[in-house]
Amino acid sequence: MATEIVNNKRCETIVAAERLKDRIAKRTAKVGVLGLGYVGLPLAVEFAKAGFDVTGMDVQTDKVDRFNAGQSYVKDVNDEVLASLVKAGKLRATTDFSVIEELDTIDICVPTPLRKTKDPDMSYVVSATEQIAQHMHPGFLVMLESTTYPGTTDELVLPKLRESGLQVGRDFFLCFSPERVDPGNPKFHTANIPKVVGGMTPACTELGALFYGQALEKVVPVSSTRVAEMVKLLENTFRMINIGLANEMALMCSRMGIDVWEVIDAAATKPFGFMPFYPGPGLGGHCIPIDPFYLSWKSREAGIEARFIELAGYINGQMPEHVVERIQDALNDATKPLRGSRVHIVGVAYKRDISDVRESPALDIIHLLLRRGAIVTYSDPYVPKIAREGLELYAEELLPAAEQADCVVIVTDHSSIDYTALVERSQLVFDARNVLKGMESPKIIKL
Ligand SMILES: NC(=O)c1ccc[n+]([C@@H]2O[C@H](COP(=O)([O-])OP(=O)(O)OC[C@H]3O[C@@H](n4cnc5c(N)ncnc54)[C@H](O)[C@@H]3O)[C@@H](O)[C@H]2O)c1
Repeated sequence: MATEIVNNKRCETIVAAERLKDRIAKRTAKVGVLGLGYVGLPLAVEFAKAGFDVTGMDVQTDKVDRFNAGQSYVKDVNDEVLASLVKAGKLRATTDFSVIEELDTIDICVPTPLRKTKDPDMSYVVSATEQIAQHMHPGFLVMLESTTYPGTTDELVLPKLRESGLQVGRDFFLCFSPERVDPGNPKFHTANIPKVVGGMTPACTELGALFYGQALEKVVPVSSTRVAEMVKLLENTFRMINIGLANEMALMCSRMGIDVWEVIDAAATKPFGFMPFYPGPGLGGHCIPIDPFYLSWKSREAGIEARFIELAGYINGQMPEHVVERIQDALNDATKPLRGSRVHIVGVAYKRDISDVRESPALDIIHLLLRRGAIVTYSDPYVPKIAREGLELYAEELLPAAEQADCVVIVTDHSSIDYTALVERSQLVFDARNVLKGMESPKIIKL
């Protein structure tokens, strides 16, 4: 009798898995996206565009309301596309997580920040997994997309989902698939960036690859969730360390009176074995300054010290201070003390043509300038207000503010800015991005 019950259960779940495969292939599967931010919103849109019925979930009511009103809050997704999918009934958002019960798939796209101590803050992934665990059902495909340390999917997510009594690879399916989106990139976006996916079992990988292949151009299956987790960390650590090297070159060149930008451009003419990375005012965003420390933290547990990561982190972290010292020197040469001088920051987003100020080096630079007694203003076409990290500032109109300033500092090189007019109307310009390349003026000082 007991064997019969077990066999029946097995049969039911095999049927559920086959049914899921069929529903994915026919695009009748009900798709869920948990966390509707920079990653989750574009992903939800791509699956709805591919014909799936998509439900987005978030804890923030205002985001859910804007989503349902067809108002995009992510620059890479335009209002018309979002509104038309919402209107067509392919896309909706909710704060009610009981809808998970009805879903065939779910992508977890919640934040993975660092704590002040540079330890991973897994609280969002934990709470998202707990929400899913309450609604586990046979034939369910769960994918973690949040960037995290190798081992998260099997050590943290899997045990919570298993509490349902369901077995992974047979009753439900679990994958890790890193999100590699580059907000603001005009060429590469969610749909055309190859999607790496690694499952807990071959059946999980197969279903995950089948799923992503419906909406995204290319899928790259790998052998495990740990490989997929490590892929993302290698990519971002590669960038972070190379930027660290470029920044260290900038510090050396600054001391030696050499133009680091000219050095890099000339080195980049080598047709092999060199890839240019550029210095800047410091690292920003939710990925490059953070993700490598997830790896460094996990490596310590494995008894290996990630020395490249720590060193690059130290050098990159010095850049805002270096920028402020260079501003101070430039004002000094103009016989002005930094204390009491007006410094206007151009661009506070962490990179060009986006509105995201998370971890932006501009915030550090503003803090350092204020601490030294400067009067700081800013302008940014994408950021009307800064209200974070103890700052509350409103954007000023660029050219009048630049005219009033003793020094203008280009921190973010947004492409819509008229840099010729900016230089003409400023007394002194510190360019931390080499956006004024080719312009000759004694007013211009480069990083
Ligand atoms: N932003 C990027 O460029 C980028 C690129 C690649 C990977 N990533 C990674 O993707 C993940 C998400 O990043 P993001 O930039 O989209 O973050 P985000 O902050 O823009 O969005 C995350 C969303 O998750 C919501 N959320 C938090 N806890 C939740 C919960 N328990 N249930 C439902 N929703 C919840 C938040 O309210 C927020 O709207 C992070 O791990 C990040 O490292 C980000």
